[in-house]
Amino acid sequence: MKTNERTGADDSRMFKKSVVAVYETETFFDLLKDVLHPGGLQLTKRALETAQVDKHCTVLDIACGKGESIFLLAKEFGCRGVGIDLSFPKIARATAGTKEKNFDTGFSFLVSDAEVLPFADGVFDVVLSECSFSVLPAKRKAASEIARVLKPGGRLVITDIVLKTVDDGSLPDNTAASTGLTLPCIGGAVSVAEYIEIFKESGLYDAYTEDHSKALKKIGYQMALSFGGLEEFLQTLSSELCCTSRKEGTESLCRIEPNRKTAASGKPGYALIRVTKPRY
Ligand SMILES: C[S@@+](CC[C@H](N)C(=O)[O-])C[C@H]1O[C@@H](n2cnc3c(N)ncnc32)[C@H](O)[C@@H]1O
Repeated sequence: MKTNERTGADDSRMFKKSVVAVYETETFFDLLKDVLHPGGLQLTKRALETAQVDKHCTVLDIACGKGESIFLLAKEFGCRGVGIDLSFPKIARATAGTKEKNFDTGFSFLVSDAEVLPFADGVFDVVLSECSFSVLPAKRKAASEIARVLKPGGRLVITDIVLKTVDDGSLPDNTAASTGLTLPCIGGAVSVAEYIEIFKESGLYDAYTEDHSKALKKIGYQMALSFGGLEEFLQTLSSELCCTSRKEGTESLCRIEPNRKTAASGKPGYALIRVTKPRY
């Protein structure tokens, strides 16, 4: 089995619950507010442009969070579609956001797992995924689901944490050495080459990539300003998750995925990757 693929229904359910809980924390909100990916909506716009989104497109946003990218899609690109996320509070917020807008967004929101898409084959022109593929335990399953729901000629565009090779043998700078903790998006990251391979195996080709690692660095600066650094941020996050788990009686929410793979093989960067489903 390749890295980052998990098995076992219970294990997978608990893992996903823990991941979702991380991005629902106030600590995360304090750092990034409502747009939970490096580069903000400026990078969202760039991703949508590279996927040639226009008003005729039907778009699916995988793990859409509170729907900020969808509101941009509706307002600036005039297209329609669906946003899904596994977090109930996030989808509730996104749905409320739709009602608060003074324009018809043309989008609906659904609580759903990105690895099992509740859509028929070939219905979307574009699938967007921002800082979300990295948190998915079964990336191949998600990629083949995306390939299934895309129309022939449809595009998948992701922006996500990626692993860059460390050739000097030093520890990567994302490691909170004393805690052994990291964020799901960093712990679950793979390299650009691995993403391209996963997409190819699912029938998505013609990869186009851009490096946006500077956007990740900016978040590092924000972390330093607001919390003192990554380690302090992770400690605050961990304490909040422990409080939540005590209240809910769900011990596993305490855990932030250990920084196994990243520590071993790479520094985190941020990249845009676009792939296409062939027409024939
Ligand atoms: C880093 S946030 C990115 C959110 C949004 N794309 C954005 O850029 O603001 C990751 C999101 O993935 C969602 N998520 C985690 N696991 C998921 C899964 N298996 N299926 C769908 N959404 C998931 C979380 O609830 C969270 O909203």
